[in-house]
Amino acid sequence: MNLNNQVAIVTGGGQGLGQQIALRLAQEGSTLIIADINEKGSWETAEMIAKRGNGKAKVIPTDITYENQVAELIKGTLEIGNRIDILVNNSGIMGPVKNIEDIFLEEWEATMKVNLRGMFLCCKHAIPVMKKQEKGSIINIASITGKRPLTQRTPYATTKMGVIGLTRTLAAEVGKWKIRVNAICPGALIGRRIDLVIEGIMKYSGKSREQVIAERTEAAALKTFVDPKYVASVVAFLCSEEAAMITGQDINVCAGTVMY
Ligand SMILES: NC(=O)c1ccc[n+]([C@@H]2O[C@H](COP(=O)([O-])OP(=O)(O)OC[C@H]3O[C@@H](n4cnc5c(N)ncnc54)[C@H](O)[C@@H]3O)[C@@H](O)[C@H]2O)c1
Repeated sequence: MNLNNQVAIVTGGGQGLGQQIALRLAQEGSTLIIADINEKGSWETAEMIAKRGNGKAKVIPTDITYENQVAELIKGTLEIGNRIDILVNNSGIMGPVKNIEDIFLEEWEATMKVNLRGMFLCCKHAIPVMKKQEKGSIINIASITGKRPLTQRTPYATTKMGVIGLTRTLAAEVGKWKIRVNAICPGALIGRRIDLVIEGIMKYSGKSREQVIAERTEAAALKTFVDPKYVASVVAFLCSEEAAMITGQDINVCAGTVMY
């Protein structure tokens, strides 16, 4: 996939999935803007890109929940090549893991703020630039929890279902400027978060790591967690010319855990 000379913003690019996406887009030739509250991680991502010798990266520390910071992010991005070809809205938080009656209003609002308000603000400020260019690809990272219920996670599930609504509506609104908007719905990803969950279950259940993994991947047709590199490769594809006719879609990368 050729993404040479594309300018790409990745929110939450300082760790986890966002880092993998940034590395992959850089590998395909894009210049990366890493926008994250995790400044240390962002510099690590930028360093990794520099060391690999393909693509360039700039760190613009950003809290996506503040409109003035998002406006600064866009301004700082335009300084590079006066364009924004790709926006990957990846930043997200888990929110509380509780029954609904135990969730504090602040926890509900914090989840909405990062997962939806932040995404809205990034789209709002990037779209005018993309309209002028008559070109752009926006990828919103949702979740399979945007497709099916996940008990004790009402705020998270609500936001991820909202991400799909935002994606479809925005795709319909901006298609005539040749701006494409798609969502990706990852399944449980290999990484720090799932390791903590597995260790927690092993401790209270006395089960082996293999048993816990087998149970947690039972619902996946491929019986595995998802390596984030496969989410990153779908992002790269969706941003490429090869995907020119794909917009308004929510694409599962979940080892077959959901199939709709
Ligand atoms: N980990 C999984 O199993 C999984 C599964 C499905 C979907 N997802 C989604 O993928 C995305 C990335 O998940 P991850 O597992 O890499 O999570 P992560 O916690 O490792 O990374 C999230 C990133 O978002 C950043 N972030 C948080 N609040 C922010 C803010 N206000 N402004 C800017 N950046 C902010 C964090 O600093 C971090 O770098 C999220 O949207 C998540 O919901 C993850």
